[in-house]
Amino acid sequence: MTSYVLVTGGAGFIGSHAIVALQQAGHSVLVLDNLCNSEAQVMDRIAAITGVQPGLIVGDVRDETLLADLFSRHNIQAVLHFAGLKAVGESTVKPLEYYDCNVTGSVRLLQAMQSANVRNFVFSSSATVYGEPQHLPLTEDHPRQATNPYGHTKIVVEDVMEALYHSEPGWKMARLRYFNPVGSHPSGLLGEAPRGVPNNLMPYVAQVAAGVRDRLHIFGNDYDTPDGTGIRDYIHVMDLAEGHVQALHHCLAQQQVLSTLNLGTGRGHTVLEMLRAFEQACGRELPYEFMPRRPGDVAACWAETSTAEECLGWRATRSVEEMCSDAWRWTQRQYQLEDERAKAASLDS
Ligand code: NAD
Ligand code: UD1
Repeated sequence: MTSYVLVTGGAGFIGSHAIVALQQAGHSVLVLDNLCNSEAQVMDRIAAITGVQPGLIVGDVRDETLLADLFSRHNIQAVLHFAGLKAVGESTVKPLEYYDCNVTGSVRLLQAMQSANVRNFVFSSSATVYGEPQHLPLTEDHPRQATNPYGHTKIVVEDVMEALYHSEPGWKMARLRYFNPVGSHPSGLLGEAPRGVPNNLMPYVAQVAAGVRDRLHIFGNDYDTPDGTGIRDYIHVMDLAEGHVQALHHCLAQQQVLSTLNLGTGRGHTVLEMLRAFEQACGRELPYEFMPRRPGDVAACWAETSTAEECLGWRATRSVEEMCSDAWRWTQRQYQLEDERAKAASLDS
């Protein structure tokens, strides 16, 4: 009987790249996604890259009946849990939706795993749990502080995992704190497709490069950084994806474990440096304008990565240039496909 890795939220940005890395490492994957922020066609694009179509179950991670059925029908060895809502601003407007999806969803999933005696669990946490850095680089023992409901949901789920781990033997879990995932699969077939105006820097820059937005608004040029703009630890999504495979193997190899690991590069880049790198990738200058600081932003944030290196034998290797050129390939393909669809629709009418 095939043994599966269940990937919740696998049609989304990070989950879809993780599936490619899992399949390439020889794992069979099942996906549970309610498609609230993604499309089923992502599975076809994964198949175009890996040659294997992952099974997709369209459903909600909060659906207890569906979860019980899924765990009873399939031999699930481990769960990678990406499903969740992730927009910081929206979480302040719709906190109940965020707690319900992110916290209730995780609790239901862990309950279903407990009932089915599946004890390997890898969770998508975030560097947002650190709040305002008290020191840099950020080590995993840095105090946690939520500055918005989204960040608090991540802290709560981290704590739920801790309590569960101590409540009974045999759980093997990793809490992965991502820094700033960017870039795309080098094929240009998978990537980040935010709906509406992008909140995050790199998708916004990509839309300026594609001519969809007229200029980048840079939030703050008076930070105490070399060029005055904010510093972040940008990590290529394929490095992040491979980190998940290593985290899964780390869990599978233990009798019991609860690891908390930063997934970043350990290096920071300013907004202007990222913009310049994207200009190199797309071959033209990109217009920008300095704006006031964005409320809630920190000046600088980057990871201490030695824990992940020691525990997982993994470190990020892809450069900022690759992040930008891969993201640009994906962006061009997206708009090319949209144009083709629009032309086909106008011929039909
Ligand atoms: P995404 O929105 O692209 O992917 C999330 C996927 O989960 C989507 O396909 C969505 O349809 C699905 N989903 C949401 N709620 C669901 C539910 N209740 N049941 C089933 N499916 C559901 O987001 P992403 O960027 O791939 O992020 C994945 C995870 O990583 C999230 O938990 C996010 O909080 C975390 N994270 C992301 C970032 C980032 O910058 N992208 C940084 C740190 C942490
Ligand atoms: C944001 C989230 C954080 C989440 C992370 C995931 C907020 C406040 N924080 O962090 O919770 O974990 O994404 O990647 O939303 N910038 C601009 N112009 C823009 C967009 C961003 O100048 O249009 C700047 C920001 O001020 C910041 C940098 O670019 O200095 C990165 O911003 P962003 O991509 O939104 O990531 P974070 O703020 O690190």
